Amino acid sequence: MNNPINLLEYEALAPEHLSKMALDYYASGAWDEVTLRDNRAAFERLKLRPHMLVDVSRRDLSAKILGKSVRMPILIAPMAFQCLAHPDGEVAAASAAADAGAVMVLSTLATKSLEEVAAVRKQTPQWFQLYVHRDRALTRALVQRAEAAGYAALCLTVDAPVLGRRERDARNEFALPPGMELANLAGLEIPEIAGESGLFAYFAEQLDPGLTWRDLEWLCSLTQLKVVVKGILRGDDAFKAVEHGASAVIVSNHGGRQLDGAIAAIDALSDVVAAVGDRAEVLVDGGIRRGTDVLKALALGAKAVLVGRPALWGLAVAGEAGVRHVLELLRDELDVAMALSGCAKVEDINGSLVRRL
Ligand code: FNR
Ligand code: LAC
Repeated sequence: MNNPINLLEYEALAPEHLSKMALDYYASGAWDEVTLRDNRAAFERLKLRPHMLVDVSRRDLSAKILGKSVRMPILIAPMAFQCLAHPDGEVAAASAAADAGAVMVLSTLATKSLEEVAAVRKQTPQWFQLYVHRDRALTRALVQRAEAAGYAALCLTVDAPVLGRRERDARNEFALPPGMELANLAGLEIPEIAGESGLFAYFAEQLDPGLTWRDLEWLCSLTQLKVVVKGILRGDDAFKAVEHGASAVIVSNHGGRQLDGAIAAIDALSDVVAAVGDRAEVLVDGGIRRGTDVLKALALGAKAVLVGRPALWGLAVAGEAGVRHVLELLRDELDVAMALSGCAKVEDINGSLVRRL
């Protein structure tokens, strides 16, 4: 299998290109990994009801997200430590996203600086994901740097007051290898700790578990940028996010890495869409691996989806070209899935296309 033809084949190839510590960190979910598996299984429970005899000879996959036109309704989710997959890390991923016309969301915990990543942007916007540190001056400085570097939105992750327990990371005593650093957080390190994930310890020491909706207001008051709240699983929380200033919410269980047993992201989507109405945009991530998954998410009311691990598998297997290929494969699958469903453009996709059996 030298030429992967889908995202699952990239996943199958990735272990050959990663250390055990990196592979386990990327692949794992929390505790028994029930939510991790359910993110995929939930898509299989959704059935499509395609329209026939619609003219689909010309198809348009472009979309508008937060007022900006993008070539596809697919973003790359924020993911930490991409230099574990490839020496060019987040810069390679961002460059691939720019070529594909997909928004990339850069993690606070990136191994390349937000300025280096901004430098490869081209026309498609980039977003910056924010982890609010106990040190609010440091947090404020990150926001100001993201704004100065031209990021179009801030993505506030709210599902990680503490880090979920990923037992493989604890066993591996996860830490960054020598020479790799938190490129946006000078002076801070992932500690090495016996019998424990260094990242878990980092969260406990550095991140603020006391965050509330007032901090979302604080963040909105700090910046001109639009704020996207990531990690919402309930309509009532989504409503609060909008009330406190969010322009969009991302329905997500963090790829099954936080609260194991949490509802599959795609199963949580309809409740959030109903609660938010047209007051804000709703996106979703978790388990998107096929074009039909994207189609189902859009049919259930998502404006766009984010894809996580497959981008890392692409990066590990073939660097920038691998990420570009992953995005092209997913885009092409969406294109075919739309044609087979009688949808010529993204706006043609609606709730009548899916049924949960
Ligand atoms: C993540 N995720 C994540 N989210 C976030 O807000 N900030 C972060 O730094 C990270 N880091 C991170 C690292 C790795 C290795 C993974 C796999 C995930 C969660 C990510 O943004 C997204 O919610 C999920 O990965 C989506 O699920 P799939 O597509 O990986 O199934
Ligand atoms: C993770 C964090 C960094 O999921 O968001 O590993």
